[in-house]
Amino acid sequence: MGEPGQGFPTSFPWKGTHMEKPIQAIQENHRFTAEERRALYKAVLTRRDVRGQFLPDPIPDEVLARILTAAHHAPSVGFMQPWNFLVVRSGEVKKTVHDAFLKATAEAAEMFEGERARVYPKLNLEGILESPVNLCITCDRSRTGPVVVGRTHIPVMDIYSSVCAVQNLWLAARAEGVGVGWVSIFDNEALRETLGIPDDIVPVAYLCLGYVSHFFERPELETAGWQERLEARDLLYFDQWGQGPSEADAELTERVAGDQQAVRDSRFLDERF
Ligand SMILES: Cc1cc2nc3c(=O)[nH]c(=O)nc-3n(C[C@H](O)[C@H](O)[C@H](O)COP(=O)(O)O)c2cc1C
Repeated sequence: MGEPGQGFPTSFPWKGTHMEKPIQAIQENHRFTAEERRALYKAVLTRRDVRGQFLPDPIPDEVLARILTAAHHAPSVGFMQPWNFLVVRSGEVKKTVHDAFLKATAEAAEMFEGERARVYPKLNLEGILESPVNLCITCDRSRTGPVVVGRTHIPVMDIYSSVCAVQNLWLAARAEGVGVGWVSIFDNEALRETLGIPDDIVPVAYLCLGYVSHFFERPELETAGWQERLEARDLLYFDQWGQGPSEADAELTERVAGDQQAVRDSRFLDERF
């Protein structure tokens, strides 16, 4: 208690309605400690897409269970929880998935031109066979019926929800020292067929999981010169699309730029927390 927003809810939506007053337990600690915040930001900033540094060491079930639990506690539209987690450990299944990747990546290579066409085949874009666990996260678009709170006007919200589960999993895995690589260069139908996924279920993410020899400091596509990290300050608009900062927004803009520079210089975690 004592800090703003701590303790009690400020609105009571059941008041004056036929709804029964829900019994809502309230979280005890409204704010994380500096150490807890630092750890969270550390997971966010050091998470990498891992393709090539997988170790064969198995992921203990208790660790995998924690990571999956984090995924299952993602937000979802209308609390739909549209995901399933299809754990792939079979070498045979992985091999078929890998074949599907090889076919798709050969097609992808044809789509780039010039320097990118030269560089694309050199990029390492998956670790399907090397990682001990593969995981397909799906979206069951009709899990809670046709009309879903929050999905009434933008149907794709259920897919976004499954993506939230992916991100939760990715961050939890990083905290556990487990690398995750997202492989999306597939014909989704081939993936469906290989994994026996029904037509009405959408494969959202195919992930490779495993302990790693190391995590890179920077995204591999950045190091390869494929794509630089954009300046966050240039991505900020105010009140209208394309509108830059007014005087009142200048400080926020400068702080965002300063934070990004601090991340770049590996100063962020030590200086901010
Ligand atoms: C939706 C999505 C699909 C991706 N698909 C692939 C992929 O097929 N192969 C790959 O190597 N990386 C894939 N990535 C990883 C990105 O390349 C990576 O996130 C990006 O380069 C930034 O690097 P970082 O994740 O290490 O910060 C994907 C990431 C996302 C979010």
